[in-house]
Amino acid sequence: MTFNFRRPTPKEMEAILEERQRMFQRFREVPIEGEMVEWRNRSYLVYPGVFWPHADSIALAEYYVVKPGESVLDLCTGSGNLALESAHKISDLYHSGYGFGPRVIAVDINPNAVRSARDNVLLHAVSPFMEVRESDGLRDVIPGEMFDVITGNLPFTDHPAGDLVEGTMYDPGLHVWRDFFGGIDSHLNPGGRIYLANANFGCIDEMFDLASDHRFNVRHIGTNVLEDPHREFYAFELTRMDE
Ligand SMILES: C[S@@+](CC[C@H](N)C(=O)[O-])C[C@H]1O[C@@H](n2cnc3c(N)ncnc32)[C@H](O)[C@@H]1O
Repeated sequence: MTFNFRRPTPKEMEAILEERQRMFQRFREVPIEGEMVEWRNRSYLVYPGVFWPHADSIALAEYYVVKPGESVLDLCTGSGNLALESAHKISDLYHSGYGFGPRVIAVDINPNAVRSARDNVLLHAVSPFMEVRESDGLRDVIPGEMFDVITGNLPFTDHPAGDLVEGTMYDPGLHVWRDFFGGIDSHLNPGGRIYLANANFGCIDEMFDLASDHRFNVRHIGTNVLEDPHREFYAFELTRMDE
């Protein structure tokens, strides 16, 4: 499996890391009572140190699919924005007469992210459809708990991370990714789909290698491009090779 993409030049990479530093600073400056952020025509409350809904996951939000009756797990949920997209889809289906289907479970390692996501569940009035848990990767997803759709905007740059704030975007040694691929098969229903965000300055090659090692096909489903510095954010759909 290959995916041809425009790799950043060393100068672009330097500018991207500087831009990420400014984002960390901005996340740290949020007052303790939180701040409202707009993303895809909805508002999200974020607390200090939480990753804001951002350009990284726009392609994913636009192109991933949840069908009636499907259950969803959102890993690395941050403010809960991607999980809330799913909860809104499920809520819309419920209100148009599809009945009460399975729910969305969202997890994050950062207690402030969990607090943001839980408060956003209330602000978005989707509490019957979504639950948020503090979890390091899949650790607090119950053994045997199965999902039709798994979404994730994991920290995708292999770079040292000094604290939870830097851990929103940096995954030293790609441990979050390795744990994800090591455990995800036992939480994905037959015929299930995984949707992941990544970027041209992220871990595309490693993601393809991990997917192939764990017998998943990868399909590119969308791109979102930002300039100054040039960045390309991608959305991918993964399905089991053997199905
Ligand atoms: C790039 S942010 C994505 C947030 C949100 N899903 C979005 O798309 O805007 C990555 C998130 O992964 C979380 N994270 C990092 N390491 C984690 C781990 N080991 N287990 C669970 N969440 C983790 C961070 O706290 C952060 O909220």
